[in-house]
Amino acid sequence: QNRINIAIDGPAGAGKSTVARMVASRLQYIYVDTGAMYRAVTWYMQSHGISAENEQKVLQTVQNMVIELKPHESGQMVLLNGEDVTPFIRSQKVNSEVSRYAQIEDLRHHLVHLQRMMALSKGVVMDGRDIGTTVLPAAEVKIFMTASVKERALRRFKELDKAEGITLEQLETDIARRDRLDEEREVSPLRRAEDAVFLDTTDMNIDEVVEYITSFCRTRM
Ligand code: C5P
Repeated sequence: QNRINIAIDGPAGAGKSTVARMVASRLQYIYVDTGAMYRAVTWYMQSHGISAENEQKVLQTVQNMVIELKPHESGQMVLLNGEDVTPFIRSQKVNSEVSRYAQIEDLRHHLVHLQRMMALSKGVVMDGRDIGTTVLPAAEVKIFMTASVKERALRRFKELDKAEGITLEQLETDIARRDRLDEEREVSPLRRAEDAVFLDTTDMNIDEVVEYITSFCRTRM
């Protein structure tokens, strides 16, 4: 069997990361969570008082940064200059601003380049917003996964740290807002690649989705 690359795109909270990680583990492939890279950069900029408006400073900072992804039981570990920042990147503060940083064209170019390097030797399951369209347009399998905003908010709610005290309604608003920013931005907006399989998971459970994608991938190897 040939090693292939698998691109999984879709809006926030569609379950991409859980599914991508499980598919990767079943196929013994490497999982790459590109959202974690945008989140880590956002967290770093916020902690250093560099706002998304200051594009030049953002770019200069990211160019001097070593970003690494390492496999980890519960997903993926992100290291910035050797420091594990995983515990900080899913906070509400990062959620609320990550799409703003993700609109910076040169920052995207920088991260896309790193992502392509990671996929060079194939055998990668990569999830994000622009993988099938921009990062890996030649991926052998492309999946566009979505679910209703309500269902996605509910899924995020269940995995959230209760200590953050966020309500389901807030999550719905936040997800709808993030969808809009991701869909409307000029540089690689969130949209389905023409050759991507469209998968609405509103009424599917995780195992069903994983089974569907894994079987589909095996037909392309
Ligand atoms: O996938 P996740 O929700 O962790 O991604 C966080 C944010 O990072 C997204 O809302 C989007 O703004 C940005 N992102 C992106 N392109 C990717 C992955 C994530 O713009 N490939």
